[in-house]
Amino acid sequence: MLDKLSGPRIESADLYDWDELVQEDRVHRLIYTDPAIFQAEMTNIFGAVWVYLGHESQIPKNDDYITVRLGLRPIILLRDGNGKIRALFNRCTHRGTTLCRKEKGNARIFTCPYHGWSYLNTGKLRAVPWPDGYACDFKDAKFNVAQVPRVDSYRGFIFATLNPDAPSLLDYLGAITKPIDEWLDRQPNGKVAVCEANRLKFKGNWKLAYDNSGDGYHVVFSHRSLLEMENRQADVANKGMSYYRGSPDTKPMYMAYMGNGHHFKDKRPNIQKRAGGLWAVEGPAPGSEHYQEELRRRFGARAEDILDLASSEPVNINVFPNFSLLGNHIQVFEPVSVDETNVTWYGTAVVDDDGALGGAVDEINALRMRTQEQFPNFGEVDDLANFEEIQRGLACLEDEWIYMHRGLGIPGRVKIDEHGIITAPATDEAFMREYIKEWKRLMKASPNLAVQREV
Ligand code: FES
Ligand SMILES: [Fe+2]
Repeated sequence: MLDKLSGPRIESADLYDWDELVQEDRVHRLIYTDPAIFQAEMTNIFGAVWVYLGHESQIPKNDDYITVRLGLRPIILLRDGNGKIRALFNRCTHRGTTLCRKEKGNARIFTCPYHGWSYLNTGKLRAVPWPDGYACDFKDAKFNVAQVPRVDSYRGFIFATLNPDAPSLLDYLGAITKPIDEWLDRQPNGKVAVCEANRLKFKGNWKLAYDNSGDGYHVVFSHRSLLEMENRQADVANKGMSYYRGSPDTKPMYMAYMGNGHHFKDKRPNIQKRAGGLWAVEGPAPGSEHYQEELRRRFGARAEDILDLASSEPVNINVFPNFSLLGNHIQVFEPVSVDETNVTWYGTAVVDDDGALGGAVDEINALRMRTQEQFPNFGEVDDLANFEEIQRGLACLEDEWIYMHRGLGIPGRVKIDEHGIITAPATDEAFMREYIKEWKRLMKASPNLAVQREV
């Protein structure tokens, strides 16, 4: 049963003149600071479009669950007894308390801690204590847990939307599926398993992180200490993101805007195309040297391919509004309030179902995990510090505008191909201007969100 929303609502379209707030070359500070805009985003963005919730490898068995968020809505993402993936609102239909307070587990039944109503993991109400105190019919579907009506996966990545009118997930992802496919297809069997995570938070608006996720302009300035650390003991000073040094716009890397708010920073053309090319630019992980020595001893020439599997792929694949693939990590942006955001970096592991890696899978994954010590630990904190300082700077009420016009108006610099994909040199802000146009389009809309209940 599809439950269309019937209560009062504030129309985001009426809040502001959105064309005034988002212009061709600049945006108004309010889009990062206004609580009313943030509230509207929880419907018009984190509700109306496909939002990343989790990965299938986090709920591998029937009845497995994890607790996540869709915007601010607490969600139990689970695989029911028939293997169907569902995103249940983590909310008791009686008085609204959360049903499940654990991060993950395996359960066929969720029992509300408040008054003991219990539900099957299909969302159906199973029993209420002392039902003879009620005159109603508990078979009425309105007592079943609300769930997100559309949940779909793309090659293991699970997305959900409350918008019955949204395009299919495949259409929504569109051209960004190509780099996602390439990211997956370099892994054995084209898949990964999601591991534990670095959990970080910053006092700033979630869009600051999404703006930055394709920003090639800041790297040598903001991440100078990381670049110096990675290269301090290297024989050749080409580790990590060294290719941003000098004049980055003359390097073969580029930014691309892929439609529907998705953007892509492709730094792979900077890397030598040879076995071991990726591993050669990986920064040092002191204490792990014996792993690579052992792999080289056991596998000879093949060790270089194996070591590449442990390396980070130099891409930023950003799926609007909350998901990035970068290095060999998954980054998830989670809005908390207008000026607070969680960013979670999940490690990913290689899976060797058919033994093609000759028993090296544990060593690969051990080395791969150590890559967390490069950008995720020592680079991301630079970015978060910037985001917090932007939010502080935006408290200057009278200085209203934020500029994103790098590359705008220079003939021939920004290119568009026959599929509408926009490319520009690595430091351009074209991706920012394009995604924020899409954001504006969505903020002007009046999506008809709905929840599903079992019948
Ligand atoms: S709020 Fe869940 S049983 Fe009362
Ligand atoms: Fe950065």
